[in-house]
Amino acid sequence: MTTLTAADLPLTDFEQVLTTTRAVRKRLDFERPVDRQDVVDCLDLALQAPTGGGAEDWRWLVIEDADVRERLGGIYRRAFEEHVAAPLAQADHPSTRGRLRDRDDAKTAKMLEGARHLAHNIHRAPYLVLPCATRPNPAEDPTAGGVVAAVYGSIFPAVWSFQLGLRSRGLGSLITTLHLHYADEAAALLGIPTGTTQCCLLPVAHTLGLDFRAAPRRGQDEVVFWDHWRTND
Ligand SMILES: Cc1cc2nc3c(=O)[nH]c(=O)nc-3n(C[C@H](O)[C@H](O)[C@H](O)COP(=O)(O)O)c2cc1C
Repeated sequence: MTTLTAADLPLTDFEQVLTTTRAVRKRLDFERPVDRQDVVDCLDLALQAPTGGGAEDWRWLVIEDADVRERLGGIYRRAFEEHVAAPLAQADHPSTRGRLRDRDDAKTAKMLEGARHLAHNIHRAPYLVLPCATRPNPAEDPTAGGVVAAVYGSIFPAVWSFQLGLRSRGLGSLITTLHLHYADEAAALLGIPTGTTQCCLLPVAHTLGLDFRAAPRRGQDEVVFWDHWRTND
């Protein structure tokens, strides 16, 4: 793969952008400022994404104030320590994340190392972006089964557009959801009204280098079925 330089930006090869947009943790450049206009332009791209019924029932909270980033980062870090690090250190912890302990392959270990690095540095990203749905959290309404897909499905296409826009400009990000363990605290910090669902939190920073690659993924033979569900084993 050719090594990209700043002269190659913006990346215009659609397939390259789609296949090399990674979850960036250790290669976020926390020292280099991000041009606010780049964030604005990527939000413009994001807002072109579809929403259920064309409702555009979203709000995008962009946090650049260092003090607020520090406090939100603290919430994220605590969520990582309590919901990832502590269960991992405890052999028989019942949580789902505890099961990561058994998946001690190199890929998972690398991801966890990156996740720890991010947890301790996320506040240093020049921008933290928090997309919200202006609908109540469907998880709090047991009768709202069908609404869950509409609430989150009206946010994540835009989130991915935002990330692709960032990638094309030499910026990096990743979807995070850990802080949602303490969503109420984040809501109090940011003035998010009741009845609003925080969907994820995206750090935004320049990337250290531009040479990201397609990720190893399960093959289609394993995860794609044609006409009928197939049991592999
Ligand atoms: C819904 C969702 C929630 C995620 N939450 C977190 C998170 O809280 N913290 C984190 O470090 N990564 C989080 N990730 C990032 C994933 O771990 C990452 O996308 C995955 O490892 C694939 O990365 P890759 O495309 O670079 O291979 C989340 C991703 C998704 C899609």
